[in-house]
Amino acid sequence: MESKFTFAQNVIKEAGKLLLQQMEDIFDITVKSTNDDIVTSVDVAIQTFLMQKITVSYPKDHFLAEESDNQQAISDGNVWVIDPIDGTLNFVTQKSDFAIMLAYFEQGVGQFGLIYDVMADKLYAGGGIFPVTCNGRELPVFDGRPLNQSLVACNTGMIVQNDHNILAVLQNALGIRNYGCAGLSMAKVLNNQLWAYFSNVYPWDYAAASILGQSLGYELLTLDGQTVDFISREKVVFLPRQYKADVLHLLNKNEQNWA
Ligand code: IPD
Ligand code: CA
Ligand code: CA
Repeated sequence: MESKFTFAQNVIKEAGKLLLQQMEDIFDITVKSTNDDIVTSVDVAIQTFLMQKITVSYPKDHFLAEESDNQQAISDGNVWVIDPIDGTLNFVTQKSDFAIMLAYFEQGVGQFGLIYDVMADKLYAGGGIFPVTCNGRELPVFDGRPLNQSLVACNTGMIVQNDHNILAVLQNALGIRNYGCAGLSMAKVLNNQLWAYFSNVYPWDYAAASILGQSLGYELLTLDGQTVDFISREKVVFLPRQYKADVLHLLNKNEQNWA
């Protein structure tokens, strides 16, 4: 597993270099479902690069990749989950605050995850038997600080609709942030900059963070308190495990105060 983890760190860095080269050229943008759901030729090139590199080194492994129709269930063999560019809107409009993400599973068990902030050259990596690091610096386990001394990140639509009575949780925080990149938002949770992240996301958006968070005291759950399915788009929260009961108590209840 050690060599596979090292391989993954090298290949995601190489993908970052390829992205930086391609970013300088004119690239194609295609609208998927709605105007804010887009894919660029750079997303496709990065995904193709990662899949080819992985296949050459590990020909029997499978993929669950965002821009691919061939999506393996994570419970079925050795599976790499790929989000070639997380935060494509940021990539196109801001040229910053996007990430390349990889997560690796064997029979449904997460072995390691990687979130690479290309523009900041920051690589979050680890999970499973590996310590969780950012550019080699080991990240601490959650320090226990309460929500009322912390910031949270939340999907704007969920705030506007008060989805699952979410305002009852959010109003206890010092403030709300929105970064437009699921991976970097969850990296900020891992890095103690945010307390939790609430959003409506796909498996490739949350796979890496779900593995990275386990040993640091974080958990990924649906807003109903269920385990995520790694199949569909779901409304989720990535939060400190020790506060899970308090948060779930407020979600879905017609109450406004912290438990
Ligand atoms: C999206 C971003 C965004 C989140 C969406 C994701 P993409 O990923 O992470 O912040 O709100 O739910 O789909 O489409 O840019 O890879
Ligand atoms: Ca994504
Ligand atoms: Ca993407």
